Amino acid sequence: MYVCLCNGISDKKIRQAVRQHHPQSFQQLRKFMPIGNQCGKCVRAAREIMQDELMQIPEYQEIA
Ligand code: FES
Repeated sequence: MYVCLCNGISDKKIRQAVRQHHPQSFQQLRKFMPIGNQCGKCVRAAREIMQDELMQIPEYQEIA
């Protein structure tokens, strides 16, 4: 499913980037993909997907 229509970024791409780079913040995630840099409508959904995916990473589960 496309999350960011402006840049053609899917939830799968977001999850893949989170698993690969373990961003500490949404700003860091944006270094790896141009998400939310145009209309900004996708930011909330993208952030939720990022949080959800981070929770799947064992080292983040220990912190939470
Ligand atoms: S939908 Fe992502 S910037 Fe517009």
